[in-house]
Amino acid sequence: MAEVAGYLWQRGWAERNAGNISVNINEIMDFEISDFDIFPFISLPAVYPNLSGYCFFVTGTGKRMRDLARKPVKNTLILKLNQEGNGYWILSKKLNDDNFLPTSELPTHLGIHQMIALRGSAEKVVMHAHTTELITLTQSREFCNEQTINRLLWGMHPETIIFVPKGIGFVPYILPGTADIAMETIKALQNHNVALWEKHGVFAIGESIGDTFDVIDILAKSARIYFLCRSANMVPDGFSDRQLAELKELSANF
Ligand code: 13P
Ligand code: ZN
Repeated sequence: MAEVAGYLWQRGWAERNAGNISVNINEIMDFEISDFDIFPFISLPAVYPNLSGYCFFVTGTGKRMRDLARKPVKNTLILKLNQEGNGYWILSKKLNDDNFLPTSELPTHLGIHQMIALRGSAEKVVMHAHTTELITLTQSREFCNEQTINRLLWGMHPETIIFVPKGIGFVPYILPGTADIAMETIKALQNHNVALWEKHGVFAIGESIGDTFDVIDILAKSARIYFLCRSANMVPDGFSDRQLAELKELSANF
């Protein structure tokens, strides 16, 4: 997480405290805890029955990716949900030297982890970043729909359809941190691995932190190629439907 936090900062996708990451670490937290009373307990505004007892490694709210890159323990938390799935203990309390809570986008992170648990797929990571190039596209009505935005991004570089064959889901602007944006993001991620929040950033899911970052990076590269063409006063040709279909077949090999 520290390595990728550094990349997010270097790419300019994590100004101040922007962005957050959560990882399902349930499989590696296989020890018994005898006394939960020593850990702070926080109630959740929603219930996540399918995450009962699950453990997560998450970034802290207000924490900077550039600081996390150097001092991961001081900027992250380990959470364990209770049996009911309506609250969590902060297991890492003693490791953190100040009182801070998990990311303000926790409702979206947990909602996505719950969707993954329900369908039984292998993703462990949820990553949110303020990916400038993709946010810029959503400043124009023209690109605020899945069909146009995916056609554009796939058309700019062969890697995009190979590594993001399902394209991205689009989430119209909603106040961040709310149950409403969590619900719309979960819907968008039912058929995609990346959801683009209008005028805000991306939410991506993946099996590892590195892979999740890579998908965002590939999409941002496509958007950058588009903007470079436009700033050189060129209208990019993009790939034809036949070329895209051919490339999409290759995605099975990776
Ligand atoms: P947090 O610092 O609470 O994680 O918020 C950052 C962010 O990007 C909100 O959308
Ligand atoms: Zn954000």
